[in-house]
Amino acid sequence: MTTTNIHTLDHFTGTLLIPVFETSAQHLLPTEFHGVSVPSKVFYGKKDTVYLVEKYDCTHVFIGIGKAPDYKALGTIFRRISAKQKEVFAANTALVVPANCSAAQTEAMISGLYLGTYDLGHFKKNEKHPFLNEGFALQLFAKKDVAATAGKGIKIAKAQSETLRLVDSPPNVATPKYLANWATETGKQYGFKTEVLGREACREKGLDAFLAVGKGSQHEPQFIIMQYTSENANPKTKHVGLVGKGITFDTGGLNIKVAAMVHMKSDMAGGAAVLGAMQLIADLKLPVKVTAIVPACESAVDANSFLPSDVIGSYNGSTIEIIDTDAEGRLILADGLSYLIKNYKPEVVVDLATLTGSAVGTFGYECAALFSNNDEMVQKITQAGNEIGEKSWPLPLWDAYKPDIESDIADVKNWSGKPLAGAITAAKFLEYFTEDHKAWAHLDIAGVAFGDDEFAKSKHATAYGVHLLTKFIENL
Ligand code: BES
Ligand code: ZN
Ligand code: ZN
Repeated sequence: MTTTNIHTLDHFTGTLLIPVFETSAQHLLPTEFHGVSVPSKVFYGKKDTVYLVEKYDCTHVFIGIGKAPDYKALGTIFRRISAKQKEVFAANTALVVPANCSAAQTEAMISGLYLGTYDLGHFKKNEKHPFLNEGFALQLFAKKDVAATAGKGIKIAKAQSETLRLVDSPPNVATPKYLANWATETGKQYGFKTEVLGREACREKGLDAFLAVGKGSQHEPQFIIMQYTSENANPKTKHVGLVGKGITFDTGGLNIKVAAMVHMKSDMAGGAAVLGAMQLIADLKLPVKVTAIVPACESAVDANSFLPSDVIGSYNGSTIEIIDTDAEGRLILADGLSYLIKNYKPEVVVDLATLTGSAVGTFGYECAALFSNNDEMVQKITQAGNEIGEKSWPLPLWDAYKPDIESDIADVKNWSGKPLAGAITAAKFLEYFTEDHKAWAHLDIAGVAFGDDEFAKSKHATAYGVHLLTKFIENL
């Protein structure tokens, strides 16, 4: 899908998408557009309402967007129309961009329309969405030049669609190798370098905590390293480090999960968000340098699986006592974080992970739990998230929680053994492996990465983090 600009609707035939703000005169004046008048009794721009009129060889789709719709609400309205009213789209489809629409609102509408093309039925014989047909161009009827804004909206949704597909793909398809290949291929296409360390290379490097988690799986662990450098980089260019949890399936290991295991294909959603963000950052050619790591492996049950009470090593040389094999995410992130920080020395580090049930217990499905040792990062991450509806809220990293990860036998243990403050103690564990970095933030996205909404019958991916990471980096 691309876009073209049109300057008149004279002689236009096809489908016209007409967003309508709700006005205070809602019950007095009809909505008038393109020779069509809609009585206010049936439609006045109320959010989430739609009114269709067929006239002059045009399907007029009046779309109520409310008085002051935020980014997320607008995106959802347009995703809904695109996903659920596919039959109204002609080869000629135009979006009317109201004069009082901000750039962000225009971006949200267009990215929502593109996201509506995402179809969960990856293994069904489905017809293509009309917007994905070869040569389809959405026509934009606007007073201002919105081409750049539209292009950006499409790039965002394209990257999000990739993340959605990776997370929604079953674990026998989206294996560690599959993610590594995705990174290699996408890097070639969009312009970032990918290096992948397999089991042997990880062994040589001493990525022992990462390898311990993947020991029981028939799929070889893949430690994926990506590097993007802007063409215009100079010594002042900001260098950002990203790490994403890439557990392609979390059985819990020998501490096998007794609840909701079926959703654990989503345990690579942090990794998939980092992958999508790399695509988007490169696609937008952001003037930054980014080094990203996705440690990808499967936590399976087997004679070779690591055991509760094992003591394992790690990349930074510390030993770890395993209290519970289901607290595996922090182990692979520990190696991801210390490998990133020691070898690449980024100025700012953000990790994303579906890390704890405790984050879900604390915030439900509303926001991610944010941890950071840097107030400016907290401010910038929450702000970026508020602008686009990917919210997060800070929790403390107080040293009072440190004894929870102190072990008798090893340098540190992977769980306190108590069902208390789980998201915080997991973050304290990660902090231990950040090499005293002064600008690190951790987002526990267990509650927001995979959920229920109107777009499917079962829980599915949200792509939380793709846009958030990109916007955060854009605003640095
Ligand atoms: N992947 C899970 C966390 C999770 C839970 C993600 C629910 C999405 C939805 C993680 O690896 C895990 O199992 N965490 C345990 C840790 C515990 C054993 C210390 C948890 O939170 O229960
Ligand atoms: Zn687990
Ligand atoms: Zn997990």
